[in-house]
Amino acid sequence: MEENGFVLVTGGAGFIGSHTCLDLLEKGYGIIVIDSFLNSYPKSLERVKQILRSKNLTFKDKIFIYQGSLKNKDFILRVFNESEKNGCRIDSVIHFAGLKSVKDSIKNPLNYYEENVLSTINLLYVMNLFACKIIVFSSSATIFKPFENKLINEECQIESINPYASTKIFIERILNDLHISDKKNWKIMNLRYFNPIGAHSSGALGESPKGLSHNLFPLIMECAIKKNFTLKIFGKNWPTKDGTCIRDYIHVMDLAEGHIKALEFLRKNEPTIINLNLGTGIGTSVVDLIKVFENTNKENLSFLFTDRRKGDLPFLVADNKYAKDLLNWTPLRSLEQMCKDGWNWKLKNPNGY
Ligand code: WQD
Repeated sequence: MEENGFVLVTGGAGFIGSHTCLDLLEKGYGIIVIDSFLNSYPKSLERVKQILRSKNLTFKDKIFIYQGSLKNKDFILRVFNESEKNGCRIDSVIHFAGLKSVKDSIKNPLNYYEENVLSTINLLYVMNLFACKIIVFSSSATIFKPFENKLINEECQIESINPYASTKIFIERILNDLHISDKKNWKIMNLRYFNPIGAHSSGALGESPKGLSHNLFPLIMECAIKKNFTLKIFGKNWPTKDGTCIRDYIHVMDLAEGHIKALEFLRKNEPTIINLNLGTGIGTSVVDLIKVFENTNKENLSFLFTDRRKGDLPFLVADNKYAKDLLNWTPLRSLEQMCKDGWNWKLKNPNGY
């Protein structure tokens, strides 16, 4: 690892970011974290250090944290400059930072274009200036056009169905143009996540949204912990086996490990740009997930069926063959493990960080 420079992790205090930072540090990488803490908590990174201490793993001079926004190009320049001066040259980036609520993006599109697209342009500009040309980008499965009940592979049609998805599509296009501008140097991987859920097995790290999440799994856990909370299931008349929407839930640690495999692939191979769908390839309906959660954690959930939610799709499951073959990566953790680990986090942190 010593021959490599430091990895800059933007949004490193977030849900997937913090789990990836832990995995990077456990694997001996040095990391620089940038986070605005707009949608995350510094405490997540304290918990990363706590887990490392519990494993007697040292992280001295291996993690440096900068609070600030990627909307401020001078701030990014300062981080790259200081890292270079301190002997922690940034040679690659895993870019998580960005807003991720579909619902909020419909209400505030300009905010999403500023926070997600403008910020990324600033980051890429500074990376280019410092000849740092390896980036793993946190993209999303919401960029895909519904494909009946078929698994979604990397060749499936892309269609921006909401501003959040559009920001991801635009950033992928920007990265493609950047690669074309300097094919001999840029190494780029776009990872399209399906539905990340769960938490680190210690229960010290997990998903801690600011305000109430709109996503199913955090709401299932909210319903389990607050007995007066009834979960709404958006639609029971979808064209699926039980009438509820089917998704591809993937354990956040499997996703974190996928990022490191992607980074290692880019470091070892010739300049390229690659899109990968990161999911389990297994479809789970809303009702299925509720049942697995109840049986795994011996909890009963109160729920009711309501109208469909605008913008929802009946079926969104990954064909993850390309990612598995290319990265020699495979999601290892079961839906039961996702439910067990997520609930362990929630019981230990009922109000998040
Ligand atoms: C899953 C299923 C709902 C809440 C979102 C983002 C996507 C990605 C993952 C970032 C759907 C149903 C939900 C509830 C319900 N995030 N549901 N009652 O919509 O697949 O994807 O998270 O990249 O960008 O769009 O996830 O968890 O919101 O919904 O019935 O209270 O659960 O209809 O079928 P989704 P979700």
